[in-house]
Amino acid sequence: MSTHKTVLITGANRGIGLGLTLKFLQGGWHVIATARNPDGARELWELEHGYPGKCRVVALDVSHGASIDHLAKELKGQRIDMLINNAGMIEDRDAAFPAHSAVTLAKTLAVNTVAPFHVTQVLLPNLQLAPAPVVATISSIMGSIESTTSGGYYAYRMSKAAVNAFVKTLAAEYPKVTVLALHPGWVQTDMGGAGASISVDESTNGLHHVLSAATIGQSGKFLDYRGKQLPW
Ligand SMILES: NC(=O)c1ccc[n+]([C@@H]2O[C@H](COP(=O)([O-])OP(=O)(O)OC[C@H]3O[C@@H](n4cnc5c(N)ncnc54)[C@H](OP(=O)(O)O)[C@@H]3O)[C@@H](O)[C@H]2O)c1
Repeated sequence: MSTHKTVLITGANRGIGLGLTLKFLQGGWHVIATARNPDGARELWELEHGYPGKCRVVALDVSHGASIDHLAKELKGQRIDMLINNAGMIEDRDAAFPAHSAVTLAKTLAVNTVAPFHVTQVLLPNLQLAPAPVVATISSIMGSIESTTSGGYYAYRMSKAAVNAFVKTLAAEYPKVTVLALHPGWVQTDMGGAGASISVDESTNGLHHVLSAATIGQSGKFLDYRGKQLPW
């Protein structure tokens, strides 16, 4: 049996997903790095070249069920120690309620909520081949119902609150799988913007540390990139 551990990261071609890919490769893990447009994922191909046999770039559009099912077929029988549901989107940001589009809500739920559910579902057999499987979903403090005190961001907040409910439910149903919701901080990515408070390096360093040290006793928790527990 192989001794290395394997992590699958969605939305690995830029931002936090790309940063996590680098951290896990540096930590000696094998990474299955998914991107919806692998041909345009230059940084990922550079990592595949720099870590031969350790970084595998795979196509996955998380908003298409057929693409998720295709991934499952491609990886059938392969052990996956950790799944990181990272791919995410935000639209209509601070639009007031009357201007916030229901179409955006449906699209956002598809990518931020339905996709983590579906990807986890099809890869569960792969995860159950691992001795201590971990399912981590990159959520957001903006999905914390308790912390919500301002308006706007309807679709994003709702999608992350719903994915948090998925995390809690999965943790309860699978006591042998460590299931976590993670807040990466406010990060300087295309989504977070240049004015965000921390760099991709700082966020992914912290997330990598939290995930490498994750224990089954933490399952069902909502943690930030420093390991601090957050309110649901
Ligand atoms: N940045 C922050 O401050 C912050 C704070 C809290 C939580 N988060 C969460 O962190 C995660 C990563 O965010 P980020 O800041 O790295 O955002 P980003 O720089 O905008 O990157 C988003 C990633 O998700 C991928 N993606 C979007 N829709 C997809 C789809 N349908 N299929 C496959 N991949 C798709 C993108 O792929 P393409 O390149 O193909 O578009 C890209 O790889 C998200 O879940 C986000 O909600 C971010």
